[in-house]
Amino acid sequence: MGILFKEVTHSYKGYKKQVTVAIENINLEINSEGEFVAIVGKTGSGKSTLVQHMNALILPTSGEVNVFGNAITAKKKKKLKFNNIRKHVGYVFQFPEYQLFEQTVLRDIMFAPLNFGYQEAEAKKASVEVAKKLHITKLLNHSPFNLSGGQQRKVAVAGILSYNPDILLLDEPTRGLDPKGSKDMMELFYDIHKNENKTVVLISHDMNIVYKYATRIVVMDGANIVFDGDKKELFESGIYKDHHLEKPEVLKLIDYLNGKFNYNFDYNITSIDELVLKLKEVSHE
Ligand SMILES: Nc1ncnc2c1ncn2[C@@H]1O[C@H](COP(=O)(O)OP(=O)(O)O)[C@@H](O)[C@H]1O
Ligand SMILES: [Mg+2]
Repeated sequence: MGILFKEVTHSYKGYKKQVTVAIENINLEINSEGEFVAIVGKTGSGKSTLVQHMNALILPTSGEVNVFGNAITAKKKKKLKFNNIRKHVGYVFQFPEYQLFEQTVLRDIMFAPLNFGYQEAEAKKASVEVAKKLHITKLLNHSPFNLSGGQQRKVAVAGILSYNPDILLLDEPTRGLDPKGSKDMMELFYDIHKNENKTVVLISHDMNIVYKYATRIVVMDGANIVFDGDKKELFESGIYKDHHLEKPEVLKLIDYLNGKFNYNFDYNITSIDELVLKLKEVSHE
């Protein structure tokens, strides 16, 4: 079932009724399983607005979003069963500190499962397990407000994983993490995607991360989707240049090696680590 956008527009009314059209006439389908979709594009292009529709955090101004059979339109707010939507689709905010509010980290992680009808003991068990995965067991009795930005981000992620939604929405999940923390976080999402066949929707400015993990890339520019497809195609075609996107390092290196030393590496290689392995293979021949 997944998520289906039909002609969705969202406008914000700001100061002096000034209207900003943040996304315009969007048609988009996200499968309920097995996808790793990266949403990219410059700041202000509408990425966060787009993704916030996927769990009814905001509603369309016009058009319809269907999330696991729940039709979401501007008119239907009173009838919406938000829990039916959000148990399927978990969303980690761009600024997770706004998402935390309980007395302790444990209570915070347990909040969503309790809300979705887990018994206290079940919710606790699930939350402790997720905390282990994220290496934050030591923080469980701390106040979520006394943590670093990176730790808060992990707690927010744990709060989503604890109830096992089908689709994970991640708005710049590695922002503010150190390189190791960033890699660990991405590997965790990738493992969940691979092992449990979950769909991940990731907003990121980091083309190295996007190229390594995504199976599909959606490019936003000026409130519109200007590309939706295969990551190789985006960078082989040169379309990325029209939308202020940086070429992933691994592809720059591949271009250089192929041009200068007559190697024949292709864009199926998605990370520097993988390229190094290939180079070693080639040089042992
Ligand atoms: N709460 C809001 N109120 C008014 N305008 C907003 C709000 N959130 C976003 N916008 C505007 O909508 C546009 C798209 O923003 P956003 O979806 O946050 O883009 P992105 O995530 O790609 O940076 C921008 O012009 C932004 O200024
Ligand atoms: Mg954003």
